[in-house]
Amino acid sequence: MAAEATAKPAVLPMNRREFLYYIWAASMALFAGQAGAALLWFAYPRFQAGTFGGIFELDISELPQPDSSPKPFSGGRFWMVNIADGIANDPRQPAEWRPARGARALYMICVHLGCLYAWVPTNSRFECPCHGSKYLASGTAVAGPANRNLDVFYMESVDASGNVIDATEMVNGEGRAINIEGAAKLRVDTGRRLNGASNPVPKEANA
Ligand code: FES
Repeated sequence: MAAEATAKPAVLPMNRREFLYYIWAASMALFAGQAGAALLWFAYPRFQAGTFGGIFELDISELPQPDSSPKPFSGGRFWMVNIADGIANDPRQPAEWRPARGARALYMICVHLGCLYAWVPTNSRFECPCHGSKYLASGTAVAGPANRNLDVFYMESVDASGNVIDATEMVNGEGRAINIEGAAKLRVDTGRRLNGASNPVPKEANA
């Protein structure tokens, strides 16, 4: 008796429900892939060191001398100021904003409407050409329509071994100067801007 031919399993055509299910699964996989890519894009650091938005590492020798004129670092959009007794005890300095000794990185943009202010050595203060706001070397607003002190960038001072000596802390509503004794380098994070303290009192008498 001849052997019966082995029956092949029947291949059933995909029905409508299965087709929709596969379309849905493919859509979800595509969505998950896009969401993952977007997450990675946001998580990836987009600012390189030494460019605005990133960290600037300065040798301590680049810091201006204590109480001398602030020094511009245009690439990072900040003025570096080295505060010692002369700046801290400036008679124009309002007592409520008396600064700590040390270094501060002042954001170069006027807090009123965003103009670039400049250091005016003859008046020993920053002056904004747009509407006349004036700021002491400490960053305190002393005249004009600015209603807060200058913004600063978060900074750290580090020793020769890379140990952090001091870092910016908020004191009296703004980022205080950091201690630079024993520091070999300063790191200025231009991606972390701290608003200056609210300073709405009339100030012309102090300027
Ligand atoms: S933008 Fe500086 S005073 Fe108006």
